[in-house]
Amino acid sequence: MEATLSQADPAVYATIQSEITRQKDDLELIASENYVSRAVMDALGSPLTNKYAEGLPKRRYYGGCEFVDEVENIARRRARELFMVAGCDIGVNVQPHAGAQANQAVYLAALKPGDTLLGLDLSHGGHLTHGSPVNSSGKLYNAVHYQVGADGRIDMDLVRRRALEHRPKLIVTGASAYPRIIDFEAFKVIADEVGALLMADIAHIAGMVATGLHPSPFPHCDFVTTTTHKTLRGPRGGMVMAKREHMPSINSAVFPGNQGGPLMHCIAAKAVAFGEALRPEFKSYCQQVLDNADAMADRLMSRGFALVSGGTDNHLMLIDLASSASADADLTGKQAEHILGLAGITVNKNTVPGEQRSPMVTSGIRVGTPAMTTREMGVTESVQIADWIADILTSAGDDALQVRVKAEVTGMCRRFPIYSDLG
Ligand SMILES: Cc1ncc(COP(=O)(O)O)c(C=O)c1O
Repeated sequence: MEATLSQADPAVYATIQSEITRQKDDLELIASENYVSRAVMDALGSPLTNKYAEGLPKRRYYGGCEFVDEVENIARRRARELFMVAGCDIGVNVQPHAGAQANQAVYLAALKPGDTLLGLDLSHGGHLTHGSPVNSSGKLYNAVHYQVGADGRIDMDLVRRRALEHRPKLIVTGASAYPRIIDFEAFKVIADEVGALLMADIAHIAGMVATGLHPSPFPHCDFVTTTTHKTLRGPRGGMVMAKREHMPSINSAVFPGNQGGPLMHCIAAKAVAFGEALRPEFKSYCQQVLDNADAMADRLMSRGFALVSGGTDNHLMLIDLASSASADADLTGKQAEHILGLAGITVNKNTVPGEQRSPMVTSGIRVGTPAMTTREMGVTESVQIADWIADILTSAGDDALQVRVKAEVTGMCRRFPIYSDLG
C-alpha cells in the first residue's frame, strides 16, 4: 500500500513520465485541451477516489459522506457564482463524469425516445452528442440539424426554418469547432416561436462565459451543459446547469438515470478549478486566450491560409486547407496534423463546412490557444507559432525544416515551463 507508483508499477510510471515530457516540450494547440494547476491535480490524486456517494449532499445512499458532502457543496456554490446572471435562479449538478454524460442527462430529462432535437451539424462544428447517428443522441431521438451559411456563421434563418419544419422539443446550441460568438438570445426567440426548450452546450467557451467575455446563455436557455476541462481549466468532467424548475428532473437524470456513484475526487478538483476561475487572474487569462487566437488567426490569413468564417471571436480557428492559397491543394487535415506533430506542434484534423473527405481524413485542422496561454505565451509567441505552422504546411516533405522548427518549438516551450517539478 505504501509503495509509490515508480516502485509499484515501473511500466505505467514510465509512460506517465513520457507523457509529461511530451506535454512540457511540445506546443499544445488542441482547442479542447489545457493544463490544470498542481492544486487541481492534488485533489484528483486524493483518497476521495475511494468514496462512494450515490445521491446528493445530505441525501446519500451511503454512510460516511459528511466530508464529500462539503466538497460537493463547495463545487456547486462556486459553479453558481461563476455562471449566475442577475434575476435568473439556476441550479447546478456537478456530478456528470464528462461532457457527453452532461448532455445525455439533459436529453433524458427533457425528451422521450423518438422526440425531436435540433442541433448543429457535426461537420459544421457541432458535437457527436448533438444528434449524430453514431451517438445515442442520434439513435434514441429524432435528431435534425442546422448548418452554417456560406460565410461560415450559424445561419439563424435556417435554424428558424428547420425549427418551424420539424417542431423540435429541444433546440441545442453550442459547438466543438465554431469560431464565432453564439447568439443565445436569437435562439431563444426561435425556441419560443416553436414551443421548444433550449439547451446551450458551452463546453468550449465556458471560461469566456464565466468571465463575461462571451455572452451568457442565461437567462435565455433552460439548460446549460459544459465540460470542466477545456477553457475552464479544470479536471476532465462535466456539469449541468439549469433554471431552478428543471433541477429535480436533471438531478434524477444524472443519478440514477445515467450514472452510478459520482467521482468525488473529480468533484473536489472541480471545486478547486472553480475557485481558481473566480479569481481576477482567470479573466486576464481568458482575455489573453482571445488575444492570442486573434493574433494567430491574423498571421495565418496574412500567410495565405483560409480560416472558416474569416477569423475568430473565441479561442479557436479552423484552417480550411482546401481553400487556402498557400497550402498544397491535396494536403489533407490528416497529413497536416501529422507533419505539424513531427515538428512538435499538436493540433487535430477537423472537418470543415461542406467537407468532401471522411472524418478520418478531413480538409481542415482546428487550432486553439487555451493551453499555450496557460504557459503564459502571448501575442509575440502566437505570431511566431502561426509562422511555424505556415512554414510547415507550405513545405510538406522538407525534413530539414521540420527538424529546425521542432528544435525552435522545444526552445520556446522551455522558456515557458509547466510542471517544473515533474518529469
Ligand atoms: C461541445 C462539446 N460538448 C460535449 C463534449 C463532450 O465532452 P467529453 O469528451 O468530456 O465527453 C465536447 C468534447 O469535445 C464538446 O466539444
